[in-house]
Formats: sequence, structure tokens, C-alpha cells
Amino acid sequence: MREHDSYGSTTMRGKRRKFDDDDPTFVKRGRIEPALKEDPDLPEEGDRWSTWDGALHGPEPRPDWVRTEYGAVDTELGMLKTGKEADVFLVRRAVPGTDKISMLAAKRYRDGDHRMFHRDAGYLEGRRVRRSREMRAMSNRTAFGKEMISGQWSAAEFGALGRLWEIGRESDLVCVPYPVQLIGTELMMEFIGDWETGEAAPRLAQVRADPDQLADLWRQMTDALSVLARAQVAHGDLSPYNTMVHNGRLVMIDLPQIVDVIANPRGGEFIARDVRNVANWFRSRGLTIDEDELIERLHFEAGLR
Ligand SMILES: Nc1ncnc2c1ncn2[C@@H]1O[C@H](COP(=O)(O)OP(=O)(O)O)[C@@H](O)[C@H]1O
Ligand SMILES: [Mg+2]
Repeated sequence: MREHDSYGSTTMRGKRRKFDDDDPTFVKRGRIEPALKEDPDLPEEGDRWSTWDGALHGPEPRPDWVRTEYGAVDTELGMLKTGKEADVFLVRRAVPGTDKISMLAAKRYRDGDHRMFHRDAGYLEGRRVRRSREMRAMSNRTAFGKEMISGQWSAAEFGALGRLWEIGRESDLVCVPYPVQLIGTELMMEFIGDWETGEAAPRLAQVRADPDQLADLWRQMTDALSVLARAQVAHGDLSPYNTMVHNGRLVMIDLPQIVDVIANPRGGEFIARDVRNVANWFRSRGLTIDEDELIERLHFEAGLR
């Protein structure tokens, strides 16, 4: 039986970890806003009541570890990573006094004033927003427009994770974190890593694999790419940094910009770019890869040829 106190926040402290390639990473540990604990409306342990009720929920059938109890409490265990567009926090959601525990990654998209818009232009371009007040607000980057853009990112990623999670459940050929819930700009999903220690799984870029493991990871990657192509989508930002490896299993993350390769006139290019990004990494580790052949096959599977 897992005892929820056995992996409390103390085990998380004092470790410095670097989580990203491209960003100056600032990792903060410890509780957030301890002063709020005085509030009588807050639970006796944890930082807040579970926000499950009132959130949008992920696809069913839900994994049995998803905590749906009203009495569950959320405890912030610290920041996993801060990035240009979103911060990712580790949250434990548990029913006090029981072994009903889940570990969640809470990805909080920044509002417009605190993030960079490098992905927004391409994304908004192919996006039809009917209500023109909203379209104008987004293109003028008013406060309302910025909030809407962040909300669309989290909603897009929540939708993409749900869709791929369902495909993965049926085919077992693609693996993504289960999207637990969405509230506004905050997406909470399955934490990929050690639930006891709170240690996140390594990203592919950090993995040292022997030739057999490398070949197996590449096979998993091509299987996943194939499933995506047949679903007529491209990840859109696939890289060794947006792929984690957990217990030998390849897990794709960071999917807000998922591309519909039929609707998008450059769909084929997005597929090719995803393939090249990961193929380069595998090749640099010594694997022989024919990426042009793979791209051609994926285009065919997506119905583009
Ligand atoms: N579900 C998860 N489980 C564990 N760690 C995660 C999870 N999602 C994100 N992370 C961590 O946060 C980092 C940033 O997440 P990502 O979705 O790639 O956002 P960004 O847009 O900042 O690149 C990841 O590289 C990983 O280290
Ligand atoms: Mg990323």
C-alpha cells in the first residue's frame, strides 16, 4: 500500500534539476502561498480542495488512479519547469487518510504579458474564429485577446491529448499523458515519472541508450508517427525535448500546436519537419535511418499522396 506521506514535499527539496534545452530554467521548490493556510475554507492538509469538480474532464473510461472524490485535496510540490509560454508544476491530488493518490503535471499557460508569441502567428493563421470581436481582440493583442489566446492553447493541447490518448488505448502504438482536466489556462495531466519520489522521467534528449534500446525507441517513434499520420495529424513541434522516456516507453508531450495535415496547406511539411527533428537525434546516436522513405510512407498513410 502506498502511504501518501512517504513522498511528501521534503523529498523534493534540495535537488536542482535542469529541464529544458532552450530556456533558462528556473526551478523553484516548496509550497506556494503558505499564508493562505489560515483560511477556514481550505482543507486541513494540502493547499486547496481538488479542482476536479467544475473542470472539463478527460476521455472515458478514465484510468482508475484519477481522483474524482469531492474530499480530495491538491498539494503543490513545486515547479517542474518554466518556459516561454507555460510553466509546469507538480501537484499531488489525494484523499486525506487514504492511499488514493494521484500525481499530476499542471501546465499553466502564461497570459499574454508574460509569454512570447513565437507559436501564435502560425497557429492563428490556420484558425477560424467566427466571432469577429474575438478575432479582433486576438489580433490586436488586447488583454482579453491575450487571455483568449492562452486559453485556446490549453484547450487545444487538452483536446489533442484526449484524442491521442484514446488512439493509444485502442492501438497501444502511441503514448501520451492522460489529460485529467482543463480549467481555463490550466491543463492538468498524468505526471510522467516516479510517483513516489516526484522525479520526472527523462526527456529523450537526455537518455543514454545502448544500440538495442536505441533501435527499440526508434521503432516506437515510427509506430507513433504512423498512428498520427493515419489520424491525419502532425505533432507540429516534435523533438527529443518534447518526448519523454518512461520505463522504456516513449511518451509524446507538448501538443498544443497539433496540426491537421489535411486542412493545413503545409500539412506535408509539418510531417516532414517532425520526422527530421527526431531522425537527426537518432542518427547522431549512431542509428542508420532512411528518413525520406519514412516521410513518403507517412504522407501516404495520411492520404496526402
Ligand atoms: N506530464 C508530464 N509529466 C512530467 N513532466 C512533464 C509533463 N509535462 C511536461 N513536463 C515537463 O515540463 C517540461 C515542459 O513541458 P512542455 O509541455 O514541453 O512545455 P513547453 O511548452 O514549456 O516546452 C517538459 O520538458 C517536462 O520536463
Ligand atoms: Mg516543450
